Amino acid sequence: MSSTIKEALRRASFCLKQAGYGNHSGEAEALLIASLGVTRAWLYAHGEEKPEAAELRHYFAWVARRIAGEPYAYLVGEKEFMSLSFLVTPVVLIPRPETELLVETAVREFAGRENLRILDVGTGSGAVAISIAVLLPKSEVVAVDISPAVLNVATQNAARHNVTDRVRFLAGDLYAPVSRERFDAVVSNPPYISSTDIETLQRDVKVYEPHLALNGGPDGLDFYRRLTAELDALAALPALLLFEVGYGQAEAVADLCCAAGYKNISRLNDLAGIPRIVLAKPAGKA
Ligand SMILES: C[S@@+](CC[C@H](N)C(=O)[O-])C[C@H]1O[C@@H](n2cnc3c(N)ncnc32)[C@H](O)[C@@H]1O
Repeated sequence: MSSTIKEALRRASFCLKQAGYGNHSGEAEALLIASLGVTRAWLYAHGEEKPEAAELRHYFAWVARRIAGEPYAYLVGEKEFMSLSFLVTPVVLIPRPETELLVETAVREFAGRENLRILDVGTGSGAVAISIAVLLPKSEVVAVDISPAVLNVATQNAARHNVTDRVRFLAGDLYAPVSRERFDAVVSNPPYISSTDIETLQRDVKVYEPHLALNGGPDGLDFYRRLTAELDALAALPALLLFEVGYGQAEAVADLCCAAGYKNISRLNDLAGIPRIVLAKPAGKA
């Protein structure tokens, strides 16, 4: 295999187009940049150069995997979230842009406060817990996940962003690893896809992302039921609950928070205008 960078890009772009990718040239370019480990500027300046055969093989192997539906973030092993770069592997959910609202809301609620203890349930890559720790430097974050493999990735991300001294990772089921501990807030982006909707998800999500991170039970609300009903496992009711919710779930989750003793409840919309965050405080703490 011998071709210039320009030729390789043209060929990859054509293959991606045939496979139905809308932004085929953008994808081809982004994959080549990541595969060669170069910048966009370098790529444009060296269009007539011929990469090594092994480099081209590596690139076209990625293009083939992308065509088969593998998410870009798993191929390159990175995903940007809150302007921070997170390691992602197929054991963790790829952090989504809409989840940034969860972090932004926590940071807005607690800006300037000291001695904060925040619990992130279902931490995955650690994107939420670590971003909060970075943006609230006076906070201590405890991050729980049922999967030790997931926590291995999250721990590497904490080291990457220099917050290992303020983010503690614990393996276990929801509040079990933090029983009788006190927190100012519980934040969570739990699995919230209904079991029946899993089948209807886009192929790259359904086939490649971990179902442990997606499946929220028959109506998608199983985790919110438990996150609100089991709060008495903690030492005291946290002053703030902050949950990301799926499409059409905000009212049901607000009702669950209300039943758990939280009377001051707001819903925040994402950029598409969909209620995406439920924020709950006990009465009188507005
Ligand atoms: C939707 S993902 C969220 C990941 C990450 N917080 C984010 O927003 O990108 C949900 C996470 O919950 C974890 N999880 C599933 N069941 C759990 C349980 N019973 N207790 C704790 N974590 C659980 C999954 O392993 C997964 O990492």
